[in-house]
Amino acid sequence: MSGISFRELDPRDRYKLLCGVVVPRPIALVTTLDENGKVNAAPFSFFNVFSEDPPLIVLGLQHKADGGPKDTTRNIHRSGQFVVHMVDEALAATMNDCAVDFPSGSSEVEATGLKTLPSVDVSVPRLAAAPFALECRQHVALAFGLGRELLVGEVLRLHAREGLIDEARMYVDYDVYQPIGRLFGNLYATQRETFALTRESHAQWLARSEAPSD
Ligand SMILES: Cc1cc2nc3c(=O)[nH]c(=O)nc-3n(C[C@H](O)[C@H](O)[C@H](O)COP(=O)(O)O)c2cc1C
Repeated sequence: MSGISFRELDPRDRYKLLCGVVVPRPIALVTTLDENGKVNAAPFSFFNVFSEDPPLIVLGLQHKADGGPKDTTRNIHRSGQFVVHMVDEALAATMNDCAVDFPSGSSEVEATGLKTLPSVDVSVPRLAAAPFALECRQHVALAFGLGRELLVGEVLRLHAREGLIDEARMYVDYDVYQPIGRLFGNLYATQRETFALTRESHAQWLARSEAPSD
């Protein structure tokens, strides 16, 4: 009746509830360059877009158990550059391989055999297998507590696989895209079933609610 007070909840349980309730979350498979020029790749589902002018995305970067930053975080702080790749059904298993805790300095891209292509506005390569790649630069990083930061990135350029965008209308073809979303833990969702809802003006709403029902 009184709900669950987050102030009284252990952080682990807050994590379980928030991740289980706020679903599905899109997945950013992020490439960065380390100090030796190796391409790092890791998935992040505390991720979303929140503005188009300026074009901004956010990543929720958690630090490692020892309190140090993950390779992705360290690399973005150093260069200010990264590429976000959207994950489709075909890329799902390789995305999951990129979350293996490979030692710092070893490349998930090399380990998984992912092919890369050069980017245009950033020096970080992008993944050829991704349906969409967003070249980004760090806009601002906000620290929350000792273990988490929110990184805001500006999208500089979008690359799309052939056939995914109707550029005359700037529409994305979801049947071709086949994105996946993250639920809780090891659970993921496809987005094969969609439905449409027409958004009405107030006048349309009134006309519909006043129309005689049969
Ligand atoms: C689907 C998925 C989503 C994830 N989302 C996040 C996230 O939002 N934030 C985070 O810090 N780690 C997240 N992780 C864990 C990182 O991917 C993992 O710690 C990875 O090893 C970090 O790699 P790095 O040290 O090369 O940056 C996620 C893992 C998976 C499989």
